[in-house]
Amino acid sequence: MRDLHRFLALLFSACHLAYQVSSAASDSPRDADIAQSGYVGGDHSIDPEAASRFQHLWNITFKPDEKHYARPLVHTLSSSKQIIFTASTENIVRTIDASTGEILYERQVAPPWPMAEASCEMTSKNIGIIGTPVIYPEYDVAFFFVKSYIEDFRVPGGAAPPLNAVYYFYAVYLDGLGDVYKYPLFIDDVPADNDLRKIFLGGLVLQRPSLLAIGDVVYAGFGGLCDAFNYTGTVVAININTRWINRWVTQGGAGSAWTSDWTKWHGGGAGGIWQSGMGLASDGQDVYLSIDKGGISTDVNASSTPVSSKTHQDILSRSVLRINLNDSGVQMQDFFLPFDYQSNFGKGIGSGGVSVLDPSVFNSSTARIGITTSRNSKMYVLNLDDLGGYRTGVNGTDAVLQTIDLQGEVFGGIGSYPFEGGYVYVNPGNASLAAYYWNFPSSTPQLHSSASLFSIAGTSPATNPHRDGVGIPTVTSNNGEPGSGIVWVTDVDKGLLAYKAVPVDGALLQIGLPKVEGAVRFGRPVFGDGKVYVVDGKYRLVALGVGGNGTVAAR
Ligand SMILES: *[C@@H]1O[C@H](CO)[C@@H](O)[C@H](O)[C@H]1NC(C)=O
Ligand SMILES: *[C@@H]1O[C@H](CO)[C@@H](O)[C@H](O)[C@H]1NC(C)=O
Ligand SMILES: *[C@@H]1O[C@H](CO)[C@@H](O)[C@H](O)[C@H]1NC(C)=O
Ligand SMILES: *[C@@H]1O[C@H](CO)[C@@H](O)[C@H](O)[C@H]1NC(C)=O
Ligand SMILES: *[C@@H]1O[C@H](CO)[C@@H](O)[C@H](O)[C@H]1NC(C)=O
Ligand SMILES: *[C@@H]1O[C@H](CO)[C@@H](O)[C@H](O)[C@H]1NC(C)=O
Ligand SMILES: *[C@@H]1O[C@H](CO)[C@@H](O)[C@H](O)[C@H]1NC(C)=O
Ligand SMILES: *[C@@H]1O[C@H](CO)[C@@H](O)[C@H](O)[C@H]1NC(C)=O
Repeated sequence: MRDLHRFLALLFSACHLAYQVSSAASDSPRDADIAQSGYVGGDHSIDPEAASRFQHLWNITFKPDEKHYARPLVHTLSSSKQIIFTASTENIVRTIDASTGEILYERQVAPPWPMAEASCEMTSKNIGIIGTPVIYPEYDVAFFFVKSYIEDFRVPGGAAPPLNAVYYFYAVYLDGLGDVYKYPLFIDDVPADNDLRKIFLGGLVLQRPSLLAIGDVVYAGFGGLCDAFNYTGTVVAININTRWINRWVTQGGAGSAWTSDWTKWHGGGAGGIWQSGMGLASDGQDVYLSIDKGGISTDVNASSTPVSSKTHQDILSRSVLRINLNDSGVQMQDFFLPFDYQSNFGKGIGSGGVSVLDPSVFNSSTARIGITTSRNSKMYVLNLDDLGGYRTGVNGTDAVLQTIDLQGEVFGGIGSYPFEGGYVYVNPGNASLAAYYWNFPSSTPQLHSSASLFSIAGTSPATNPHRDGVGIPTVTSNNGEPGSGIVWVTDVDKGLLAYKAVPVDGALLQIGLPKVEGAVRFGRPVFGDGKVYVVDGKYRLVALGVGGNGTVAAR
C-alpha cells in the first residue's frame, strides 16, 4: 500500500509547483526564523527611534467565534504588493493589504470541528487551523494543517465525535487563495513509520507548533488535545513536491503503549509535541524539538545509569530531541532528558521549544549552541551536536553547557540578538523579561564544566502575568547597527511591549508604543516593512507603524 503511494507520488512528481516570485527582505514567511533563534533579521526598517513614533495604522475585527492562534505571515506578491496571510480556528484564511488593512481575499477552506465532545477547556468553539502556516515565497504558496471532520466517518453521530475529526494538509496560492493542484492531502489513517500500529487519528491530536520548511519538506509537530484521550505525539514530514508523507511517533515500538480504547488517557503513550505553539527549529538540515510528558524508555526510567545522547530510544518524553529525515523515514539522532525529570512531574521540558543560536556569534571551539526552556523554571544551554543524553554529566547530573535558574515557568522559547556581543532573552511567567549576555565573544573560547556561557545583563521593570500569560521574545535591528536592536514581547494584559535590546545598568529600557489591548496567549509579533502586526486580547489583528491614517471597518 505504501509502495503504491510512493509510486503514485513519483509518477505525479512531474507536476511540480511552478517557481514564481522571490521574497522581499522585509517579509515574514514563517513564524520567526528557521532556527527559532528569535532574531528575525535586519530588514524591517524598524529601530527604537522609529518604534517610538509608531501609531495605530489599522485593525481588523474578525467573526465572533474566530480565534487567531496561528500567527499572521507577511509576503510580497509578484505585483510588489505586501500582504498579510491569516488563518483561524474557523478554518478561514485571508489575505490583507499590509498598507491599508483591506481584506483582499477570504475563504473558509473546510468546516472546523465542533469541539464540545472533547470535554476540554479551550477558548474557541471550534477547532480549525491552530499551528502557524509556512510560506514558500518562491512558489507564492502557503501550507498549513486544517482540522475538520467527515460526518459518520468512523462512528455514527455526525461531526461531533472526536473519531470523526480529521486533518488535511492544505496548499493555497497567496494570490487568490485557490488550492494548489493535487492539494489538500488527507493525513488521517497514515501509520507511523516507526510503529505501524499507530494510526493517525486527527480527532485525538492537535497541530499546535508553527510549521517548519526545509528544502522541499514541511515538518509539523502534533500533541494531545488538552492532553485528553488516547494519543501519541507525532511529527508529520511532507515533501511538498512528491506529496510523500512520513510520520514518526515519539512513543514507538513493541514496548510502547497502545490501546483499543480511544478514550483512554495517555493510552497511546502521549509524549506530545506542543512547545506552546513555538515552531520546530532547524540548523538547515536537522530538526530540533521538545517532547512533553508521557511514557519513557525502560533504560532511563527509574535508573541512574547514564545513557549517552546518541543511544536510540523508542519511547521518548520530557526530552529535547534532534531528528532528521532520510529514505527510511524520520530518525532520532540525539536526545537530552534532565536527570531530575521525575521530581517535577508535569513541569518538564515540552512547554518550551528549542532555539538554534547563530553559530557565527554564539559558538565555541567545541560546540554549536542551542537553548531550551522548561516549566521547571530552568533554561538549558545545550551543545547542539551532543544534547546530553541522560545523567551523563558529573555525578549523574545533566551534561549540558549551562543550566540557568529562572524566576518562573517558561512557555515557548527565547529570543536572541547576535550583535553587540550577543544576548539572549527569556520571558518567564510571574517574573520579568530577562536579558543574558554571551560571555565568550572571542574566537576561540574553551568550554568547560564550570563555564558560565551566559550571565544576567538586565531585566524589565514590569512583572509578567502568572504562567501562560507571557509571549515569546522576538528581536529586530537595523542589521546590527549599535543601538538599533529591539526586543519585543506580548503580555495578555499589557499588549505589545518593546525594549532596547542592550540593557543599561541592569535594566531593559522600554520604548513607548501605542497601547494594544492585551494579546493572544503565547503571542509573538510579526514584522513587515516598517510595521509590526499583532493579535490582541480580543483576537483583532492590529497594525502599528510610522505615519498612516487608515482604519478598516469591522467585518
Ligand atoms: C489509539 O491511538 C493510536 C495512535 O496513537 C491509534 O493507532 C489507535 O488506533 C488508537 N486506538 C483507538 C481505539 O482509537
Ligand atoms: C516507570 O516505571 C514504573 C515502574 O516500572 C512505572 O510504573 C511508570 O509508569 C514508568 N514511568 C513512565 C513515565 O513510563
Ligand atoms: C537512515 O538513518 C538511520 C539512522 O541514522 C540509518 O540507520 C539508516 O541506514 C539510514 N537509511 C538510509 C537509507 O540512509
Ligand atoms: C565564533 O564567534 C565569534 C564571536 O563570538 C566570531 O568572531 C567567530 O567568527 C565565530 N566562529 C565561527 C567559526 O563562526
Ligand atoms: C561529586 O560527588 C562527590 C561525592 O559526593 C563530591 O565529593 C564531588 O564534589 C561531586 N562533584 C561535583 C562536581 O559536584
Ligand atoms: C509570584 O512570585 C512571587 C515572588 O516574586 C511569589 O511570592 C508568588 O507566590 C508567585 N505567584 C505565583 C502564583 O506563583
Ligand atoms: C492618508 O489617507 C489618504 C486617503 O486614504 C491617503 O491618500 C494618504 O496617502 C494617507 N497618508 C498616509 C501618510 O498614509
Ligand atoms: C480599530 O479601528 C477602529 C476603526 O475601525 C477604531 O475606531 C479603533 O480605535 C481601532 N482600535 C484600535 C485599538 O486601534
